[in-house]
Amino acid sequence: MCGIIGYIGNKQASDILISGLSHLEYRGYDSSGIALMHDNKTEIFKAQGKLINLIEILNSALPTYKASHLGIGHIRWATHGLPTTANAHPHTCTCKKLTLVHNGIIENYKELKEELIQNQKNTVFRSQTDTEIAAHLIAYEYGKTKNLLKAMQNAVKKIKGAFAFCAIHNDEPDKIVVAKRNAPLVIGLGEGENFVASDIPAIIEYTKKAIYLCDYQVGVITKDDVKIYDENDVLVQNKIEYLPFEAMAISKMGYKHFMLKEIHEQGDVVRNVLSSKILSPVEKIKLEEFKLDKAKIKNIKRIQIIACGTSLHAGLVGKYILEKFAKIPTDVESSSEYIYRDTIADENTLVIGISQSGETADTISAIKQVKKENSHVIIITNRADSTMARLADSLMPVNAGIEVSVAATKSYMAQLMSLYILAIYLYEQKGLNDYDGEIINLKQELIELPNKIETLLENVSDIKEVARKYANYKDFIFIARGINYPTALEGALKLKEISYINATGYSAGELKHGPIAMLDENMPVLALLNKGIVYDKVLSNCEEARARQAKLIAVTNYVSKKDEGLFNDIILIPSVSDTLSPAVNIVVLQLLAYYISEFLGKDVDQPRNLAKSVTVE
Ligand code: G6P
Repeated sequence: MCGIIGYIGNKQASDILISGLSHLEYRGYDSSGIALMHDNKTEIFKAQGKLINLIEILNSALPTYKASHLGIGHIRWATHGLPTTANAHPHTCTCKKLTLVHNGIIENYKELKEELIQNQKNTVFRSQTDTEIAAHLIAYEYGKTKNLLKAMQNAVKKIKGAFAFCAIHNDEPDKIVVAKRNAPLVIGLGEGENFVASDIPAIIEYTKKAIYLCDYQVGVITKDDVKIYDENDVLVQNKIEYLPFEAMAISKMGYKHFMLKEIHEQGDVVRNVLSSKILSPVEKIKLEEFKLDKAKIKNIKRIQIIACGTSLHAGLVGKYILEKFAKIPTDVESSSEYIYRDTIADENTLVIGISQSGETADTISAIKQVKKENSHVIIITNRADSTMARLADSLMPVNAGIEVSVAATKSYMAQLMSLYILAIYLYEQKGLNDYDGEIINLKQELIELPNKIETLLENVSDIKEVARKYANYKDFIFIARGINYPTALEGALKLKEISYINATGYSAGELKHGPIAMLDENMPVLALLNKGIVYDKVLSNCEEARARQAKLIAVTNYVSKKDEGLFNDIILIPSVSDTLSPAVNIVVLQLLAYYISEFLGKDVDQPRNLAKSVTVE
């Protein structure tokens, strides 16, 4: 969701900006651009599409830009205006002395534009973006103050919405001025050089010391100094943090795509999440991260899970296991819906925020909202350094490792595992009785899960064959019941995201209440059929689909000889209990989506229109 970067120091700025942007590409890849200042002049390079296009433009440009030691850069996920070169950042004011990059959305840009037109009739607009309006506004304020810091401070007071800004001005060629509200911005501290970026991977190669800019603050970054002012213009000292990251060469390790590599890492991801938590089936789960004591746990009356996208689907599986084991009523809601209604949360509500990135704007807003109600907030995230992690009362980092593919796979698995751990932990802390040994069995199964996943991954020929057979269908339906209903939703989402096939997940029982009207021989229906309480019901729903001539695919750990004939294709998975089956079924659906996308020649790792981290509401 747009990434920004800035550099000031003695090194060649363009190299640092491009390398930084390559680590921010997960935030968008509609266009990219950099602005380089040298001899009080700013040169701008922009390109539509992926970063590689910008690199090609730089390679064929006159090398004079290499003399610049001050610059800002941007990678775009389009919000306002088509993903064209004209709309690519950086944007400039009319005289082109001020240059700006922005991550966020300026909600009142139309009103601001009207005001600017009134105040400065000669304003030249060159794009359709909200960002350009901010550039003109800061320049207008600069005209009054002749001071970039003051101009930024005055401008942000007029702006509604979310932003992280980096601005430079030809008349103040020794600084970058930054500001933020509801969008991340980290300032990296070096020796005789300083950095600013939307996220740590963009700067970690150069420094491990950083300051997080807070909302409403404005900062002035020179090569030897960083000064930060609060909204009352008081100079403040933000804590210097030491970044817990290693600069790492991110590689596909021989896999064709990051997504495939990340799918194959899931056995280890499970091992990693479980390793210090489940020591043996009979020992109680250790969860030092959870900060509520036993008495408070017993007082939890309800759980609310808030998340978006794939994380939301993990949350839906969480509902089944939290209600089953912790015996606490659990609601799951998309963060974007949660924010704008009168939700009921209090000090006896446990709120679980789930987010791979920890930066999803909707989830951050929802978490901020519930924090006012004194609910205990636990954050399950892959980024322990994220905004959400810093809002947590209890933090459960899932440590799935950097996930590069935009379509989430291993982070979903890690989220699932964290939810199983949490459900069992709450169960144990509440002192509930494991009369039939279900908890011991589940822990044993969790310990064995990595091997099961790896066994499945060793032989994917059936999945590849099904992918090849069905790749050219335009629509796809996934059905399941019970705990695998969210798996059907997630499987359909994966297929949509990376192959652009119109895939939908339904609870199998709902099929007959409408969706069945769409079934004919052109509609493949994939059923998740696990031996368990809903097996016979799903089988009946499959019969109903078959009677409408739909092509039927079963993903199953058991199918009797007499029922085999019902299906056009069967993908057998290792035997696993109903309770843990989402963790195995999803691997099949991830692979199916992957191989269909690959077969169709789509951009698997960076599918069109998507971004891995969505920092606007
Ligand atoms: C985007 C990504 C999805 C992700 C969702 C929520 O839409 O493309 O893969 O599931 O955001 O992100 P989060 O980081 O909060 O899990």
